[in-house]
Amino acid sequence: LAQKTVVKPFLEVLSGRRQQVPPVWMMRQAGRYLPEYRELRAKAGGFLDLCFTPEYAAEVTLQPIRRFNFDAAIIFSDILVIPYALGRSVRFEAGEGPRLDPLNTPEQVAALARHADFGKLEPVYEALRRVKRELAPEIALIGFCGAPWTVATYMVAGQGTPDQAPARMMAYRHPEAFAEIIDVLVENSIQYLLGQLKAGADALQIFDTWAGVLPPREFQRWSIEPAKRIVAGVRAQAPDAKIIGFPRGAGALLPAYVEATGVDAVSIDWAAEPSLIRERVQNRVAVQGNLDPLALIAGGAALDRAVDDVLAHFAQGRLIFNLGHGIQPETPIAHVEQMLQRVRAYKT
Ligand code: CP3
Repeated sequence: LAQKTVVKPFLEVLSGRRQQVPPVWMMRQAGRYLPEYRELRAKAGGFLDLCFTPEYAAEVTLQPIRRFNFDAAIIFSDILVIPYALGRSVRFEAGEGPRLDPLNTPEQVAALARHADFGKLEPVYEALRRVKRELAPEIALIGFCGAPWTVATYMVAGQGTPDQAPARMMAYRHPEAFAEIIDVLVENSIQYLLGQLKAGADALQIFDTWAGVLPPREFQRWSIEPAKRIVAGVRAQAPDAKIIGFPRGAGALLPAYVEATGVDAVSIDWAAEPSLIRERVQNRVAVQGNLDPLALIAGGAALDRAVDDVLAHFAQGRLIFNLGHGIQPETPIAHVEQMLQRVRAYKT
């Protein structure tokens, strides 16, 4: 039987082909701003139960697709499943964010497991397989992991902190021990991403949410180098793997990140400077972003203006329309619809 090839606009952009109307999805698109998410979240019990019950994780992944017909679905999980599979204690307390047992001395690092128990992550792969079966062929499925630096910031401090001082301090005081954590995360993230590709992911994103707190030298060592190793490690076994990097807050260091890591695209935050992005980033790779999530909460004329700015700055080149960071729980659903209508009405 002749198989009709269905084009996925999201993958087209990652492969270097600009689309007339930019494909669109939102970071954290499955989440608390959706009543159907809150309902299933309550039924599941804990957040990790939601992540590790394939039926629920698949359902939550598909909720925003049904509502908004985005061009990509991102598997519902969390970056902290890797420390969990490494045997660290990971808990999500309601309204408090993640809590882990801190890991901040060379002695503790010496006792850290080198290999994750990937059996614990099997439910994520199963969720990917389920979503893949349900997803319309023109919609892409994204797998992801946290970047080693960002995951390490939570492992070291045991929680999120305003500027991730505990991990920055450990990297200065105990660089060898800190590098051990990073190495363990690099190796296990490669295996995890390859597992997600095998389970049906069409593309991968590496979330380095806390890259922007690092001085340039540290950024090179803890954000760029590990991302480069992950990209190379994944491509060694999956040469065509499409990979998006998100070094949030990288600012003027973004061109160096793009050049060194070999990613196919970068997700840019809302503070990115348009001419730097166009002239030194979008000329090499695709760009994803970068609506301010607060403009999406505000709505009205401020939202229209912010959407138009993103389109005016970047839609002449390879663009995947997205937010500059995750959608916030208080965002009205009507504002997401307003944003989508405006993006999809875009004409060159
Ligand atoms: O984008 C998606 O829809 C896929 C799911 C996804 C989640 N977390 C679900 C989640 C993704 C891609 C992540 C990534 C993630 N997790 C990052 C990097 C991206 C970013 O947004 O900065 C980070 C730093 C984490 C760690 C994490 N998980 C934190 C700091 C928190 C608490 C903050 C918060 O928003 O509550 C989480 C919990 C979390 N991860 C929630 C969701 C939907 C909320 C938990 C809940 O429902 O109670």
